[in-house]
Amino acid sequence: MIIGVPKEVKKDEYRVAITPAGVRELTSAGHIVHVEQGAGEGSSIPDAEYVATGAKIVPDPDEVWAGADMVLKVKEPVEQEYHRLSLRKDQVLFTYLHLAASRECTEALMTAGNVAIAYETVRLPDNSLPLLTPMSEVAGRMAPIVASQHLMRPAGGRGTLVCGVPGVEAAKVVILGAGVAGMAAATLAVGLHSSVYILDRNLERLRQVDHHFRGALETIASSTHAIEQQCVDADIVIGAVLVVGARAPKLVNDDLVAQMRPGSVLVDISIDQGGCFESSRPTTHTDPTFKVHQSLFYCVANMPGAVPHSSTYALANATLPYTLELANQGWQAAVKVDAPLAEGVNVVDGKVTYEPVAEAHGMDYVSLDSLI
Ligand SMILES: NC(=O)c1ccc[n+]([C@@H]2O[C@H](COP(=O)([O-])OP(=O)(O)OC[C@H]3O[C@@H](n4cnc5c(N)ncnc54)[C@H](O)[C@@H]3O)[C@@H](O)[C@H]2O)c1
Repeated sequence: MIIGVPKEVKKDEYRVAITPAGVRELTSAGHIVHVEQGAGEGSSIPDAEYVATGAKIVPDPDEVWAGADMVLKVKEPVEQEYHRLSLRKDQVLFTYLHLAASRECTEALMTAGNVAIAYETVRLPDNSLPLLTPMSEVAGRMAPIVASQHLMRPAGGRGTLVCGVPGVEAAKVVILGAGVAGMAAATLAVGLHSSVYILDRNLERLRQVDHHFRGALETIASSTHAIEQQCVDADIVIGAVLVVGARAPKLVNDDLVAQMRPGSVLVDISIDQGGCFESSRPTTHTDPTFKVHQSLFYCVANMPGAVPHSSTYALANATLPYTLELANQGWQAAVKVDAPLAEGVNVVDGKVTYEPVAEAHGMDYVSLDSLI
């Protein structure tokens, strides 16, 4: 199979869909990999590294798309790429799609008549989303780092050193949500020697967290009362909650922020689901924070975008096994034996095969089983 990897064209997207290690796995299995010239630049992966593991560098993006049986990307196609979707019949596109949020992109894929498989809807039997997890891990680990930088006085913070010093207490870090991002944030916050408190509604989850950290942090059952009690004297609050299929619940209101320590920092990782603080609004890496009362809000909707090198490797590590299955077996055979991968199939030959996307746009849903 010929696998094409174009350079991402969406604004501020520096990740790339494959690493040199991935190229080596695919070429060792007998496939041909075409990487667009400069595709890895944003992630600090030079063309030469891809060539060294067997890729062919192709200068023209149209050529990458037209020559590929399967295109690997990071972000959903944007308007300037739509004409490329129909350059090749029966092509498989494997990427983040988020089609429920874009009727335009859904229609472009339906018109192209190819097969579109979305990273974000691949789902394991325990309901976890293995191709979203790595980005929650990146954002979660980043949160205490960006928060501790903003806690410094020149950045507008309280002027507290997150880890304290002998004789002076460390910062108090409160994490709302003990899922993938919350656990990743806790790992870093504990590593930074801060005082960590993590809240979740799921007691079983808190038991696992307690067992994992063996006393290095406090677990607290989440309630309005507990959140108020913990946040009021916190230096850092990290919002990492998710209610699947819904907007994030607003857990920290402005009245509570008004009572918090001046110069405290609130990082809203859940901002991509609407945010879990009352006054959260999406910000960017170029202008990441704003003030609410005397506190600083950090609400960057694409936190992993700041560390594209790490994010590319984290994402590609997770996608590669599925890419290999698709390449080795062909998409139809692969989804027949891999039910989680089958959940990733969103559009086939002009038909929407993922029910929530069809519902979101009032389109007809066609079950994948009826098509293969
Ligand atoms: N900003 C970014 O760049 C970025 C990057 C990756 C992920 N995210 C977002 O981070 C959020 C968390 O993702 P995740 O993968 O960790 O989700 P997850 O499902 O693994 O964890 C969410 C946790 O929130 C808990 N929760 C739900 N309601 C709660 C409440 N009222 N109080 C306390 N806990 C509650 C759940 O029990 C669960 O343990 C998502 O919104 C995700 O989209 C953002």
